Amino acid sequence: MSFSQIGVVGLGIMGAGIVEVFSRAGYQVVGVAESAAAVEAGKSNLTKSLARAVSKGKLTQDQSDEISARVLFGENFDLLANCDLVIEAAPEILSLKVEIFSKLDAAVKPSGILATNTSSLSVTQIANATSRPAKVIGMHFFNPAPVQKFVEVISTAHSDPEVVAEVIELGNSLGKHLARISDQPGFIVNKLLLRYLNHAVQILDSGQASKEQMDAAMREHSGYPMGPCELLDLIGIDTCVEILKTIHADTKLAIDEPAVGMVELVSSGKKGRKTGSGFYDYSERLDAPTDSNEAVKSQVHNDLLIAYLGDCIAMEATGYATKADIDSGMKLGCGLPEGPFEVIEKMGIEKVRSAQAELSERTGVVAYQPLPL
Ligand code: 3HC
Repeated sequence: MSFSQIGVVGLGIMGAGIVEVFSRAGYQVVGVAESAAAVEAGKSNLTKSLARAVSKGKLTQDQSDEISARVLFGENFDLLANCDLVIEAAPEILSLKVEIFSKLDAAVKPSGILATNTSSLSVTQIANATSRPAKVIGMHFFNPAPVQKFVEVISTAHSDPEVVAEVIELGNSLGKHLARISDQPGFIVNKLLLRYLNHAVQILDSGQASKEQMDAAMREHSGYPMGPCELLDLIGIDTCVEILKTIHADTKLAIDEPAVGMVELVSSGKKGRKTGSGFYDYSERLDAPTDSNEAVKSQVHNDLLIAYLGDCIAMEATGYATKADIDSGMKLGCGLPEGPFEVIEKMGIEKVRSAQAELSERTGVVAYQPLPL
């Protein structure tokens, strides 16, 4: 199958980013949102992102104009009729996605592939809302979509293997690294990342460390591009709470229950950068958080890192995902300087295991224990 026209439904940060990815790669793109205001916001995101690339000398004005000219924005699903692939990037609400897919099924030509950019919801349940479940898959991009090079392709029991192969080929043509995963809550990266982010807010809630101490610790000790509270603000705290609810419904573990600090921020409308504030206030430009309490930073860095490495070990050991896909996902999806298995290799597995045992004993959390050998 040759892809020429790509549709995107939902023009928030992720949807607008996905529009940019495809239009930059030379595809004709149709971007649809539910209201005139949402369409304008999507257009403005694309314009700002292209203007930034022009001001940095990464694109010429002519190239930027050509990229914009390839995108048609609108509110009507009929605009998507001739798309070869439509990617849905609406909020993480299953009933909303089911409704959108039923409308897409009616609007898009029968040969069109329908993909969801869901962060954790069941792709199978979304596929069941259509008359073409074999042509429905997950295509999960990372924020900012034009920057992060990793995409998870989620297949269900219904998925036509040819459709999956075609989408992987398409993704590779965008310069992305694709990993295939079956339909499981949180897929690869979010399952690991959200537990780590939740752990950070649980530490914050307990008063053991401040957000600045945690953010500075992960930046300085592990070279992460952002600390956990900064990253929660970038993703959207409301989205993170929804992903955690899905993961928690599956694992039933207390460590996956959305931390109170996150739930409270969402209730007060502070959902992160998109609302102007979250853990931090974005009314002014922020510098990277710093803190001079080395003892606290060292402790929280140890605890966050060891719990996360333990999760990675368990994910690989249970056959959920390969070491290569986990390492690629965390490096290319989240910009981490090293994959978890590269870190484990350097530290030595015995050191990681004894640190897991110490963390579990000190915190009383059984889930942090090392796996039996
Ligand atoms: N759109 C397009 N390009 C962007 C961008 C955006 N929103 N934000 C940054 N960029 C580009 C910049 O133009 C710059 O490009 P250049 O190197 O070609 O000049 C490059 O990214 C670096 O940007 P900056 O110099 O402005 O800023 P930083 O170096 O601080 O990087 C960052 C910003 C790329 C966001 C980096 O901090 C990062 O990678 N953070 C981690 C983000 C992460 O973990 N994402 C995954 C979240 S999980 C997810 O999305 C899944 C979902 O389901 C929840």
